[in-house]
Amino acid sequence: MQLKISRTKQQTAEAFTDWLIQLIGSQDSLHIALSGGSTPKIVFDELASRHLSKNDWQKVHLYWGDERCVSPDDPESNYKMTVEYLLSKIEIPEENIHRIKGENDPRQEAERYTQVLREKLPIIDGLPQFDLIILGMGDDGHTASIFPYEIGLWNADQLCEVAEHPNTGQKRITITGRIINHADNVAFLVTGESKAEKVGEIVDERGGYKSYPANLVHPLNGNLFWFLDEAAASEITSQ
Ligand code: 6PG
Repeated sequence: MQLKISRTKQQTAEAFTDWLIQLIGSQDSLHIALSGGSTPKIVFDELASRHLSKNDWQKVHLYWGDERCVSPDDPESNYKMTVEYLLSKIEIPEENIHRIKGENDPRQEAERYTQVLREKLPIIDGLPQFDLIILGMGDDGHTASIFPYEIGLWNADQLCEVAEHPNTGQKRITITGRIINHADNVAFLVTGESKAEKVGEIVDERGGYKSYPANLVHPLNGNLFWFLDEAAASEITSQ
């Protein structure tokens, strides 16, 4: 686990974007799973502002680690947020965008997206492998759409599962632990005071950390980065 702590949310976005651009420049092709929520917006803004070339974007295939079961033009859609903050501003080929179709029947879409991953991603040791999975973490320690009350989904046999938000009951499609911990790189993007308690418990391995899905992210043969601002890192005591 490599901690990359920046003073502010904006500087965290800049640090992550610097790291991502060097990763894009170092490979002939890159399969990246994006996260949803609000934190990625500032990263997408920063990434779009760097004006990567059409050649660079030709190499990049974008997927989602989770999606709400809504239409792609619904305000809740992670795809819609990504279009607004990134895809509408960069020259990435349409065929490089592999969205989860939230408008489909959830169970059928989990199965369809599993097939997409098996067809599009390199198969390493029998499993599709992402070059990079970007994750956020909720105040409750959830990641992707695996919530503490459904932490058993992490160990599902399926690469994609149907989850349900604990408060709203909203169904979501999420990738599961088998594929997350098979990635070459996993990068958490976590900012803000509201995340500090859970970040501190996970990094320090104390308190309720074992019940947080975000604590289960440990790529077997890959790199794990936590890009944090000082606010989110403020309760880490072990480093
Ligand atoms: C989603 C995300 C989810 C998110 C966390 C953190 O679909 O909401 O994938 O896992 O990353 O809830 O969200 P914020 O970045 O808004 O704090």
